[in-house]
Amino acid sequence: MGRLLEVRDLRTYFKTDDGLVKAVDGVSFYIDEQEIVGVVGESGCGKSVTQLSVMQLIANPGKIVGGEVIFEGEDILKYKQHGEEMRAIRGGKIAMIFQEPMTSLNPVLTLNQQLSESLMLHLKMNKEDARKRAIELLGLVGIPSPETRIDDYPHQFSGGMRQRVMIAMGLSCNPKILIADEPTTALDVTTQAQLLELMTEMVERFKSSLVIVTHNLGVVARYAKRIYIMYAGKIVEEGTCKEIFKRPRHPYTIGLLNSVPRLDVEGERLVPIEGLPPNLTNMPDQCAFLPRCPYKTEKCRTSPMPELRDVTGEGHKIRCYVDIAEVDNVTAK
Ligand SMILES: Nc1ncnc2c1ncn2[C@@H]1O[C@H](COP(=O)(O)OP(=O)(O)OP(=O)(O)O)[C@@H](O)[C@H]1O
Ligand SMILES: [Mg+2]
Repeated sequence: MGRLLEVRDLRTYFKTDDGLVKAVDGVSFYIDEQEIVGVVGESGCGKSVTQLSVMQLIANPGKIVGGEVIFEGEDILKYKQHGEEMRAIRGGKIAMIFQEPMTSLNPVLTLNQQLSESLMLHLKMNKEDARKRAIELLGLVGIPSPETRIDDYPHQFSGGMRQRVMIAMGLSCNPKILIADEPTTALDVTTQAQLLELMTEMVERFKSSLVIVTHNLGVVARYAKRIYIMYAGKIVEEGTCKEIFKRPRHPYTIGLLNSVPRLDVEGERLVPIEGLPPNLTNMPDQCAFLPRCPYKTEKCRTSPMPELRDVTGEGHKIRCYVDIAEVDNVTAK
């Protein structure tokens, strides 16, 4: 499968009264056609800002200050934020499902009005065809009686059902990429699992790629082919899901693995990572994880932020001087 999206050295900063927040600071990643990729990290590490930057959905006081977003061979960061080309990409070729459905579903419009609008805009459908397609989409994502529910308003649905509607909206224009930004945090574990299951089924059917953005590494275990771990605006580990679960190599990844529940492991003991992520306005020169790292060495204390390096020669990369896999007795659960 070919390369669909490649983000290179993306930097997005926010000018605040407390200083410059380097929310995304030199992030590079790629997505292949029909691939499922996970982006994982604690709250505030820059996951959403990264994805929003890809869509050029960054508003004041934020600014994309550097990098490239190559999509189908073009650097789409060169497109004007509110121009025709970007509008065709947003919701058309790249669709995003947001954290909180009530912020992205319009409460005063029925599902038909919202779904049809997007189908008419991006796929140039007429009103009747759009309605037919909208009903079909609601059926596909498991909304019962879609032919009547389509004229209901978002608040007439439960949280889980609203998420299903969001998935239908996201997929309505046959996007090449569906970005699901933490679509599941406010929901119980069973609903969460069902929705992920549904999303992966749907992207397979639509031949789209899927980016699952979450703070729960356990959530992506079953679905993602590759994973990017973010910390303080940077990627600190990347590799295939298999490699990362078998042999995590960044101390932060180990911490994440031990601190989040997995959908496929029962009765496990959870150990939170001690301490807090750094203040992004006042970043130290050294590794950002240093103060929380149980494996730090003298070199870590005296050296600048490590570069991402490929430790296996096969794309398993870490931003760390210590390769945990080489430290005794470290294994993932
Ligand atoms: N409008 C803004 N003004 C100032 N800082 C911002 C703004 N939006 C985001 N940030 C900062 O950018 C950083 C990254 O935020 P982002 O929303 O990408 O985090 P996240 O990884 O998605 O977290 P979560 O898991 O909570 O969704 C945070 O430290 C946040 O405070
Ligand atoms: Mg977020």
